[in-house]
Amino acid sequence: MSNRLELIASYVNDGIGVADVGTDHAYIPVMLVKRGYKGNIIGTDINEGPIQKAVQSLAEAECEDRVQLIHCDGLDGCDSELIDTIIIAGMGGDTITGILDRAEWCSRSDMKLILQPVTKPEILRYWLSNNDFLITNETFVEENGTVYQIICAKPDKAAKYLDSELFTGRFELVSAEPLYPKVLSLHIKRFESAISGLSNANRDGLDAWLGIIKNMLCELKSFREKLNENCK
Ligand SMILES: C[S@@+](CC[C@H](N)C(=O)[O-])C[C@H]1O[C@@H](n2cnc3c(N)ncnc32)[C@H](O)[C@@H]1O
Repeated sequence: MSNRLELIASYVNDGIGVADVGTDHAYIPVMLVKRGYKGNIIGTDINEGPIQKAVQSLAEAECEDRVQLIHCDGLDGCDSELIDTIIIAGMGGDTITGILDRAEWCSRSDMKLILQPVTKPEILRYWLSNNDFLITNETFVEENGTVYQIICAKPDKAAKYLDSELFTGRFELVSAEPLYPKVLSLHIKRFESAISGLSNANRDGLDAWLGIIKNMLCELKSFREKLNENCK
């Protein structure tokens, strides 16, 4: 079973209920049942194929009575009263943001979000910090050579983010993570190559963007220096 999914499931505390959006094979709902989670467990998926796979997994694990499957877009088909934890994993940060933005009830004070964007985490962090969500925990996990981030958030006063931290996570929260130096290096390389691409291109109208990327690169390099100083 996937370490990534195990780690995501480990962030669920006892409570009213969990919605696993984009459940696919329903691996997370099955893990929650096996872990003895007592609340409601709902798996949603927008596609019929994954719903069929989920039905099969639940039958094989003999937990079809414990999990409600809903064929819907995001959280659209869910009864908010049954849920206090929302998991959305394995989708782009823009898709996750769209799903949360449509479900106004996700900002209810007792709600916990467990999010794992595969791309564009900066869009998701930007949305969270501009919609009164505090990111309480960030973890990195490597699976098949790719580093994924797991972001836990709750409705509360948001922390301030530097632009570069929208991509990598807030230094204070992630600096002790074993995979953070790797994430920093990946983004430093990415911004350096974006800067050299833009510097060689016809930059009409792109000077402001170039300035933002250069600034983010400086921020990330200063975080790398801080890490190196802490290691001395
Ligand atoms: C790559 S799989 C991830 C499965 C699992 N959550 C994981 O992290 O391994 C993405 C799943 O999300 C579903 N999905 C994509 N967009 C969705 C949406 N707007 N609402 C619900 N499910 C969605 C897809 O059908 C697919 O089953």
